[in-house]
Amino acid sequence: MNAIEIANQLVAAGKGIMAADRPSPAFYDLLQAESIPADEDSYRNWSELLFLAPGLNEYVSGIIMTDEQVGLVDGAGESLIEQVIERGMIPGISPFRGMVVLAGSAGETVGSGLDGLRERLAEYANMGVGFTKWRAAFQIGPGTPSYYAIEANAYVMAQVAALSQEAGLVPIVEPEVMLWGDHTIERCFSVTEWVLSRSFEALYLHRVDLEGTLVKASMVLAGNECAEQADVDTVAEQTVKVFRRRIPSAVPGIVFLSGGQSDSHATARLNAMNANYELPWKLSFSYARALQRAPMAIWGNRAENVRAAQAALRHRAKMNGLASMGLWTEELEGEAVAS
Ligand code: 13P
Repeated sequence: MNAIEIANQLVAAGKGIMAADRPSPAFYDLLQAESIPADEDSYRNWSELLFLAPGLNEYVSGIIMTDEQVGLVDGAGESLIEQVIERGMIPGISPFRGMVVLAGSAGETVGSGLDGLRERLAEYANMGVGFTKWRAAFQIGPGTPSYYAIEANAYVMAQVAALSQEAGLVPIVEPEVMLWGDHTIERCFSVTEWVLSRSFEALYLHRVDLEGTLVKASMVLAGNECAEQADVDTVAEQTVKVFRRRIPSAVPGIVFLSGGQSDSHATARLNAMNANYELPWKLSFSYARALQRAPMAIWGNRAENVRAAQAALRHRAKMNGLASMGLWTEELEGEAVAS
C-alpha cells in the first residue's frame, strides 16, 4: 500500500485509531497513581490486552505504539505487531524521544528524536509499520504559545512528516492545543487557528504530500478551569469552523486526541461534528485516555479481569466508531457490555 492508501484506510468509514503509545515509565507512574500493583510484565500485559482485544478491528484501523511495544512478544512468545497486522489493523509508531525545553523560552517545549530518524523509520517500515505520529504541545497562558514555540514545533513536525513519507509511511501531525488553564473558547480558537496555519505552511515548505498525511487535532474548547464551558454543539461548530479555515481539503482525515476530556464528551463532540456538518475530510478519533480509561479501571493488573477490560475497550471503540459517522446516541451507551 502507498501512503495515500494507508491514510485512507486509517480513516475508513466507522473506524479510528487507538493511541497506545504511553512509554513504560509514564505507564508505571499511571499504575502507581491509580494504586494498581505493578510487576515487570505489566507493560507487556497491558499492551497485549489492548492490541489483541477481540473484535477491536471492527472499529479500530490502526494502533500507535512506542518503540518498546513494536518489539514485544505475547506470553506465548509471538510478536504482538505481527498479530496486529494479521487482525487487519495498521501498526503506527511514535518515534518521539521525549519533550525538551526550548532554549531561551519560558518553559515551552519541542519533541526530540530526530537523530538517526531516517534509519529508524526505514527499520519500522520493514517491520510492517504503516504510519508515524509526532506531537507538538502548546500550553495557552500569558504570552504562550509564543511565535518561537509555534515556529520551532511546526518545523520539526514537518521534518518528521517529510522523513516519514520518504520511508513510505503516513505522517500523522499532531499540533495539540492543550486543555489546561482558564482560557476562554475564543482564545483556544485563535491559538488553534495560528498553530494550524503555521503547521501547514511548514508542511508545504517541507514538500509533504497532503493526500498522504493525517492531522491529529485538539477540539476547540474552553480551558478546564474556565468558568464558562461551551455546550457540545458550540464545540462542534467552533472546531469545524477553524478546520475549514486552516486545514486543506486534500488531507483525507483529521483524527482527534481526547486531551483530558471525559469519555462521554470526547464521543458526543465528535458525533456532533459528523452529524451536523458536510465536511471535506473524514473526522474520526485517535484517542488514548478516552478509549483506555474504562478498561484500565477494570483491569487493575489482574489476569482474571482481562476479558472484561477488553469488552470495555471494545465498547468505547464502538461508540467512537459510530460517532465518526454521526450515528452515536446516548441510548447506545446503555448497551450491555458483553464480557
Ligand atoms: P489522549 O487521547 O489521551 O489525549 O492521547 C492522545 C495522544 O496520543 C497524545 O499524543
